[in-house]
Amino acid sequence: MANVLQGFQDPGHSDAAALFEWLDNADRLPMILEIKQRMLELRPPRAGEQILDVGCGLGHEVRRLALVTGPDGRAVGIDRNELMIAEACRRNNLSPLPADSSVADAQQLEFADNSFDLCRAERVLRYVHDPRRAIDEMVRVLKSGGHAVIFDFDSDQTIVDMPDHGLVRRIAEVLDGAVPNPWIGRQLVRYCLDAGLTDLEVVPHAVLFRSPMLPVYRRLVGGALSQAVESGALGSADLANWWDWLEHVKARGQLFTATFGFVVLGRKP
Ligand SMILES: C[S@@+](CC[C@H](N)C(=O)[O-])C[C@H]1O[C@@H](n2cnc3c(N)ncnc32)[C@H](O)[C@@H]1O
Repeated sequence: MANVLQGFQDPGHSDAAALFEWLDNADRLPMILEIKQRMLELRPPRAGEQILDVGCGLGHEVRRLALVTGPDGRAVGIDRNELMIAEACRRNNLSPLPADSSVADAQQLEFADNSFDLCRAERVLRYVHDPRRAIDEMVRVLKSGGHAVIFDFDSDQTIVDMPDHGLVRRIAEVLDGAVPNPWIGRQLVRYCLDAGLTDLEVVPHAVLFRSPMLPVYRRLVGGALSQAVESGALGSADLANWWDWLEHVKARGQLFTATFGFVVLGRKP
């Protein structure tokens, strides 16, 4: 099974098809669409604006933003993964309004200072080596008065209803170790203030996984957990017990897991 969490960190990841499939599915999931809606509500995009989506993946949001910014504005996405951007560009060409996508590292944007009215990053900073630098870059390319809106999870808050509490904690630790910034959700406010953003607004957001979501959850974390068994970080019996329990409660419609994230909005003075 592809390690999707690793793929989002490693631009040379071999299994692009698995990443594309994950992102296409994610873009249809109500729990992801709710996150996007919260970001839009907190700082609605406007016609004529210059908008940047950092870590845009396949450019789903960039193309939707292009419909709002219209012919007098511009919606641009950047992502470090070349294959992702090639596919985003192919799809952009089929889009009714121009959307741009290019390869770049969030930690070193190639845009001039004061270029954008709105800069967003959704489910990206948990995978970025130096998220502070990425936020600094977002602020640098914002115009004075422009806004940054960022969403990310804080996986330490993951809740799983399982009798073996120790196993829940072991799995959570393994998954925390699979990304560079598992606690980015709680760090966003401090990093945004340090980067010079003001008038911060923070919206906590809970995401619930019930029984029908188990296949999605397996695709997201299954590869990382199997790899942890191979490296000796997790016992194979632990992993078998984990999936057995989740499948057991899923079959009864009783699966209950939840995690938290935060949307943070800030203004460049
Ligand atoms: C979970 S995906 C989210 C994609 C997109 N924001 C969406 O909503 O569909 C995370 C994305 O962050 C990108 N990414 C990770 N590190 C990056 C970096 N340093 N610079 C730019 N993009 C990065 C990955 O390539 C991946 O496309």
